[in-house]
Amino acid sequence: DAVAFGLDAPFAVEYHDTVASTNDRARELATDGRENVVVLADRQVGGRGRRDRAWESPSGGVWMSVVLRPDIPPARAPLLTLAMAVAVTDAARAHGVDATIKWPNDVLVSDGKLAGILTEMEGESGRVSWVVVGAGVNANVDPTDLSEGATSLRNEAGPVERRVFVQRVLERFDALRGDLDGVLAAWRERTSTLGRRVRVHLPDGDLVGEAVDVTETGALVVESEGERRVVHAGDCEHLRP
Ligand code: BTN
Repeated sequence: DAVAFGLDAPFAVEYHDTVASTNDRARELATDGRENVVVLADRQVGGRGRRDRAWESPSGGVWMSVVLRPDIPPARAPLLTLAMAVAVTDAARAHGVDATIKWPNDVLVSDGKLAGILTEMEGESGRVSWVVVGAGVNANVDPTDLSEGATSLRNEAGPVERRVFVQRVLERFDALRGDLDGVLAAWRERTSTLGRRVRVHLPDGDLVGEAVDVTETGALVVESEGERRVVHAGDCEHLRP
């Protein structure tokens, strides 16, 4: 299936068979002043994940990055990340896969990671100049190429026509970015983290407790030993109850 051929997206499309990282290419476009462009690739050879991790991006996946220049304060930019997680979740559900969101923005099916999001931005004097929202979805990735703990649409429900999947994600994302106030409610309805026992890896050690809430900027509220802590960033693991 051709991931970009005939795509009718609400963004200008730049397609690459192979690229180092669609986020890197999107950042170049952003610094050139472009906006409302999506960079798509069949394969990345220098895919990047959160926390400077490498992101395996073999052929068959959906690797894409959207360039935006939203008129918002930087504190609201995380809502765009949550919006992409919601959009990917809904597109997966439309494909018959029971996807949920693990805080902050991993898309899971059962306990396997279907997709991850990497947002990068630049701003000055309290306003965002550009935002790049990158999404990596293990759509049709060959099972033998999946990283440990990962799953794919192909594993869960059979191969997807990637162009159809990408179109669904982008249309949903486009609607959500125009309604940032509604994003958190949509995210809450789709998360499997709230109410769960979690372990959050923080620079000063692990925090184990119950995930009880998210704040209006998307930070996680964890109750541990009777105290509530607000976690803005970190890796979260769902624990057995
Ligand atoms: C994570 O660590 O969960 C985030 C993974 C983000 C991967 C996507 S694939 C498209 C875009 N280009 C990259 O290099 N990374 C993001």
